[in-house]
Amino acid sequence: MRILVIGSGGREHALVWKLGQSPLADKIFVAPGNGGTELEGVTNTMTAADDIDGLVALSQKEKIDLVVPGPELPLTLGIVDRLRHVGIPAFGPDSFCARLEGSKSFAKQIMTKTGVPTANYTIFNDVEAAKNHIVKFGAPVVIKADGLAAGKGVVVAKNSREALQAVEDIMSARAFGAAGEKVIIEDRLQGEEVSLLCFCDGRHAVPLPSAQDHKAAFDNDQGPNTGGMGAYSPAPLLRSADLEKMADLTVRPVLEELAASGHPFTGILYAGLMLTPDGPCVLEYNTRFGDPECQPLLMRLHGDLAQIMMDCVNGSLDPTSISWSKDTALGVVLAAGGYPHSYSRGLMINGIEEAETFQVVKIFHSGSIIKDHALISSGGRVLCVTALGEDLAKAQATAYAALEKIRMRDGFYRRDIGDKGLRRLATNKEKSCPAR
Ligand code: AMP
Ligand code: GLY
Repeated sequence: MRILVIGSGGREHALVWKLGQSPLADKIFVAPGNGGTELEGVTNTMTAADDIDGLVALSQKEKIDLVVPGPELPLTLGIVDRLRHVGIPAFGPDSFCARLEGSKSFAKQIMTKTGVPTANYTIFNDVEAAKNHIVKFGAPVVIKADGLAAGKGVVVAKNSREALQAVEDIMSARAFGAAGEKVIIEDRLQGEEVSLLCFCDGRHAVPLPSAQDHKAAFDNDQGPNTGGMGAYSPAPLLRSADLEKMADLTVRPVLEELAASGHPFTGILYAGLMLTPDGPCVLEYNTRFGDPECQPLLMRLHGDLAQIMMDCVNGSLDPTSISWSKDTALGVVLAAGGYPHSYSRGLMINGIEEAETFQVVKIFHSGSIIKDHALISSGGRVLCVTALGEDLAKAQATAYAALEKIRMRDGFYRRDIGDKGLRRLATNKEKSCPAR
């Protein structure tokens, strides 16, 4: 098979790496890729991830057998529809289904229709109506821009002033452009978050093991929201024994509804969950792998990713073809100082070879390029250092030991990736061994 992966982050490096292990894979291309994908020996191309015409032309020219879009933007722009039109299989949803991520109001309405638990909400097209709602019902509330906003279009407002400001920024100042044509105002929920991703073949969903992302920039979930500063799998918060039940509650009803509307969902459907005292609630859907959740998840995958993806595309997903390492995988993101706000590019990255001498460590590149034989940074998130361990504590210790070998001026990373999981494990242990 000739495979094209779309995107340039750590997720795409992980996809290229895992697909490269498939006996089915003859040649892998990535558009546009990064320094890490180049080091894997695949072909980085110049085509940008949002250049839909260019991607279709590239797929035709290179006689691609399977296209794997990494990020959400090409999906919402209709890459899968366009590829299907020219007879090229793609592992991802069409633009109708991609609205689950591209329009939060669409996602909310489908959750309401199918009975998936989610925060109570109202959708507004009009600034004054949204503001009147806040004045009438007060805070705390959560304000969400309807469209794609690179993870920044959600404001958890502690008081009415912050909520009114968020509506002003999103709808009037159009801080996220057309994404702010509508806002969703919803109840603030409380609880710990966990991710449930499922392979979907249009009718069937097979859950991946649970994962937990760390969205805030700094330790103890402080600081601005980022794309994700680290992740691990499995997350003790969502036990493997509960995955099927959770998929029944939060993923399968949506899959049925989409199939009934003539748009069977292919690819990864990702439910961002909050486990509240009243039960699990869906905060959002993503219609692709998360970054960095993809990196630890794929480190645990046994089985042939190219085959699994083709089975999804062909509507013949076989749960028995998918199995997972019993080990825990944990990835920590090394970011450039200043991220997620302004940061420097072109920083020298040293020490990768030393870090990779750990047998159970894989370094996925998120924003790197190779220039004059040197590895330099090209993005805010630069690397995701991912380790396997027989338990969470060991995976965490190895990932951090490997990170210490890497040197990059002004680089920073969170020191507490996995700590929430370790605390949960300690509590579970206490509960199962009550003091006599
Ligand atoms: P979303 O993009 O919808 O997942 O929102 C981004 C982040 O905002 C989530 O990961 C949560 O931490 C937070 N969030 C979103 N919706 C809510 C809610 N209803 N209550 C509390 N926090 C929320
Ligand atoms: N890490 C969160 C996301 O990929 O959306």
